Amino acid sequence: MNYIKAYAPATVANVACGFDIFGFAIEEPGDVVEIRRREEPGLVIADIHGDEGRLPREADRNAVTVVMLHMLKHLGIDDFGAEVVLHKNMPLGSGMGSSAASAVAGVIALNALLDNPLTRSELLRFAMEGERTASGSAHADNVGPALLGGFVVIRSYDPLDVFSIPCPTDLYCTLVHPDIEINTKDARYILRDEVSLKDTITQMGNVAGMVSGLMQSDYERIKRSMVDVIIEPVRSILIPQFGLVKQAALDAGALGCSISGSGPSMFALSRGQETAMLVAQAMKDEFNKVNIDCHMHVSCINMQGATILDQA
Ligand code: HSE
Repeated sequence: MNYIKAYAPATVANVACGFDIFGFAIEEPGDVVEIRRREEPGLVIADIHGDEGRLPREADRNAVTVVMLHMLKHLGIDDFGAEVVLHKNMPLGSGMGSSAASAVAGVIALNALLDNPLTRSELLRFAMEGERTASGSAHADNVGPALLGGFVVIRSYDPLDVFSIPCPTDLYCTLVHPDIEINTKDARYILRDEVSLKDTITQMGNVAGMVSGLMQSDYERIKRSMVDVIIEPVRSILIPQFGLVKQAALDAGALGCSISGSGPSMFALSRGQETAMLVAQAMKDEFNKVNIDCHMHVSCINMQGATILDQA
């Protein structure tokens, strides 16, 4: 094999109550990585499309190639050479798992080019290194679902214990990206280090409720559980209109609405595609009232995760 083209989807991390432990992928948009063998050893970023020149072009500084360098080192391969092209199909700093999509497309592309020496689960920790490069924190709630598909739970980081749980087929996500940017590093920095026992109890109840609601297709329980008393109250101040957009989503029939990852994108979950479309319009209208443009995406939960698009 000399050439691989891989796709990894956008993701919604945290999913209200599950900071750093819940995430799911949507169908589109997603990033595409092309990797082509070359004679000389070493990785070269030949081109990046769609980043307006903002991402580093050096292989040891860009998430897409950092993950590949970690993989090659782990596999003990030092004579490998390839050119990498990254197609960024989502905005940076959007809360849509942009860096995760690049990192995941990178690991599955290289793995396929090397004839799959690693399983998807084994690729996870390499993809997490891309998050460390992009945001200073190796969280797995974007890379996990982008790689594995489905609704992903990170039960533990040390040791890493990640799995997907079943979720209702009629569960739809509305993802609205307002035209502003929030850096994940900054959005993590503003969080409090300590949480009260009262809030911990509330959050744990909601996490348990969310997992059981998803697994039993109990939409009312999902609805009651989509409450975040720890992160959302702090981060929502970074998103203009947050309260009004959230209320508009709920009024339009969403089960719940919160910040996607570290924001500024906001997501809502709804029962059925039709409701999810109405919710999208309602959220967009609210942002538009204060002249904030936004992009909307409505999708079911992506059960497949990253895919190989082409090979030669
Ligand atoms: N769990 C991470 C955070 C996701 O909220 O900082 C970032 O997309």
